[in-house]
Amino acid sequence: MPAGTSLVMAEGLSQEDPKLQVEAARKAFEQEFERFASFADNSEVLSTLDLNRAEAEQRALTDLRTRHLGKKSALAASKKLIGRVAPGERAAFGQLVQQNDAEITGKIEQAEQFLRTYLEFARSEREAIDVTLPGRRPRRGHLHPITVGRERIEDIFVSLGYAIEDGREIETDFYNFDALNIPDNHPARASQDTFYTSEGFALRSQTSTVQIHAMQRRGAPLRMIAPGRVFRRDTPDPTHNPMFFQVEGLCVDRGISMAHLKGTVAEFLRRMFGAQTVTRFRPSYFPFTEPSAEFDFSCFKCGGTGCRICKNSGWIELGGSGMVHPNVLRGVGVDPDEFSGFAFGLGIDRMVALTYGLDDIRLLFENDVRFLEQFD
Ligand code: FA5
Repeated sequence: MPAGTSLVMAEGLSQEDPKLQVEAARKAFEQEFERFASFADNSEVLSTLDLNRAEAEQRALTDLRTRHLGKKSALAASKKLIGRVAPGERAAFGQLVQQNDAEITGKIEQAEQFLRTYLEFARSEREAIDVTLPGRRPRRGHLHPITVGRERIEDIFVSLGYAIEDGREIETDFYNFDALNIPDNHPARASQDTFYTSEGFALRSQTSTVQIHAMQRRGAPLRMIAPGRVFRRDTPDPTHNPMFFQVEGLCVDRGISMAHLKGTVAEFLRRMFGAQTVTRFRPSYFPFTEPSAEFDFSCFKCGGTGCRICKNSGWIELGGSGMVHPNVLRGVGVDPDEFSGFAFGLGIDRMVALTYGLDDIRLLFENDVRFLEQFD
């Protein structure tokens, strides 16, 4: 302790010079406060501040305030000494303590105020929304061309009084073959043609399976269509895929004849491809219909004169049809002497490809957005 600086303590206490204590406390404060000093004078510190740093500095400043102005601070200890300083020097010492208190408090408050103002500004900046910025428009998707085609078919048949049935993609041998009057030795049952899953199950190779489910569930009379996915072990080429879409149609009632079949298919195709569309039926064979026919319609592009789309034939092949075989009706408990019906089935993928002039149906499943976005 330097000589001559000690104050005379009341009660003759020999203690470290209280004035020196105050000065030491002040020095310690100044040292610690140095890094906050720039906040007090609004200097260039702004360019180095960001929200996170300002928040951290605010916490550090609160700690500093506790250390230098809190109950356990050196300044608080000095205040307690005032009463113990010799009366002659008490006023001067008291003044020194008060002055230090005021100055330290002032400096801290100024820095606190600076940080508060900065944080208010920085937070409002962060939350600010620039209403003049152009919005980010979400990229709108659209339906897949096959879905568009399927929905058009559905709309036409719903307007003709048909219900829409949902089917299963994995079927038992019974629904795939037996119930459709397909004999045990029929080539369609061979594993070269059908995807078998586990024993007795296979991916359906045609939507005709839904005929059976629908008649079992709803009996006769009924009118329904069943669009859905089917699977065949066909090698992919421009007109074949191992997975494709078909739509099945079935109408069972009293007195249904081939004329109803022809009238319905012709009306459907007129609504689909235009009033001038002509339909033609060619004899064919399917185990579940008798008689059976395949149907073609006059080319929507050339009107029948021949073009690239119809391969110069004037006709476009679309699907199979026929009168529901009595064995099929019997198998689902519908009396073939009372009821008769017609059924038809067509491939949606090929029809969609024709509509859009695509020469390869595989394009429809490549999921290439550049291709698909043309059909918006
Ligand atoms: C049938 O599947 C019969 N179930 C149709 C039927 C229903 C007849 C009701 C009688 C009564 P077909 O095997 O011909 O028929 O197939 C019908 C249509 O599916 C074809 O005209 C064709 O458009 C489409 N198709 C067939 N195989 C493929 C394939 N691999 N890729 C894309 N489309 C196909």
